[in-house]
Amino acid sequence: MKEKVVVTGAAGFIGSHLCERLLDEGHEVLGVDSFTDYYSPERKRLHLAACIARPGFTLAEGDLTTCDIARLIKGARGVFHLAAQAGVRRSWGKEFALYIESNILATQRLLEALKDLPGVPLVHSSSSSVYGETRTLPMREDHPKVPLSPYGATKLSAEHLCELYRLNYGVKYRALRYFTVYGPRQRPDMAFSRFITAGFAAGAIEIYGNGKQTRDFTYVTDAVEANVRAYRYDGPHTVFNIGGGSRVSILDVLGVMERELGSRLDLRFGERAKGDVTDTWADTELARDALGFAPRVDLSEGIRREIAWYREYLGTAEGRRCHHD
Ligand code: NAD
Ligand code: UGA
Repeated sequence: MKEKVVVTGAAGFIGSHLCERLLDEGHEVLGVDSFTDYYSPERKRLHLAACIARPGFTLAEGDLTTCDIARLIKGARGVFHLAAQAGVRRSWGKEFALYIESNILATQRLLEALKDLPGVPLVHSSSSSVYGETRTLPMREDHPKVPLSPYGATKLSAEHLCELYRLNYGVKYRALRYFTVYGPRQRPDMAFSRFITAGFAAGAIEIYGNGKQTRDFTYVTDAVEANVRAYRYDGPHTVFNIGGGSRVSILDVLGVMERELGSRLDLRFGERAKGDVTDTWADTELARDALGFAPRVDLSEGIRREIAWYREYLGTAEGRRCHHD
């Protein structure tokens, strides 16, 4: 019999890829999403179109801060929690309320439901933003966590909640700290999306700061692979860095994009963004040893695939209509 698994944030960038992979593995997938308007909900429906056409996939539209989660996860063999209010730079000011609700309250409600399902694993999507500006690179799981953005503070709170439900109720969780994920369907607010679409339109690219900040960019199918491996994992570790092994500066990324797009990009240097850490770099030894995780897609190949996806997506009237940040 097929195993039922639940994916929250199923219509998002990473969640939609994960649903496809879980269907490929023969699971029955219940995708949950509230289609927030952080970016176009119509675009999120396009993300899910391939899944919806497949037997074994069911979509439950619902907000995790209010819906009956126990009913949704009943009979599930595992839960992948990706739903969140993402985005580092927009987490200041009045927007913070959304981050508290979707990153902290939603996770707490999910954990409350999971405490009554002993042994059902939770694969939780965390973030490199929990570290903040670290003194030592690469970042290791046990390094100090001092988030620099309100977003990072909510993602760290969610990890703390997972741990306290494990300690008090035995909830079996694995938290994956992804490092800046990219690839087809990347969120429109993220750097690669903005750079590629500006490149297509011969528009200006705004670089926040001097462009020397570095990220350990992770291709989306590598992040998905980590989820599948974490689901199967039955060892003692709970938190894993998931990095792509392609740590480069923003200026280097733009060099690769110019080569791949075959045109010069119009770069403008602006203010450094508040909450933006200078460097990220994942130590992935634990993920390698415990999960057998190794990133497969390098930066040039990954950028080529994201460019190809945007070309196709923006080549359709529907894609052009949905594309806004
Ligand atoms: P995304 O915005 O594309 O996907 C998140 C999805 O969650 C959206 O479809 C949204 O509608 C849904 N959602 C939000 N709040 C909800 C709620 N209360 N109830 C139900 N659904 C809700 O983001 P993404 O980039 O795919 O990120 C997925 C996860 O990975 C998030 O937890 C994010 O914090 C984490 N993460 C992402 C990156 C990255 O580089 N993209 C890096 C580190 C961590
Ligand atoms: C990304 C995700 O957006 C977060 O949800 C996630 O939690 C985080 O990764 C993580 O690793 O934990 P970020 O690294 O800011 O956050 O990703 P991008 O939006 O792709 O930005 C990368 C860099 O490019 C940042 O330094 C940013 O300031 C810069 N940037 C972005 C620009 O210079 N110009 C832009 O137009 C956009």
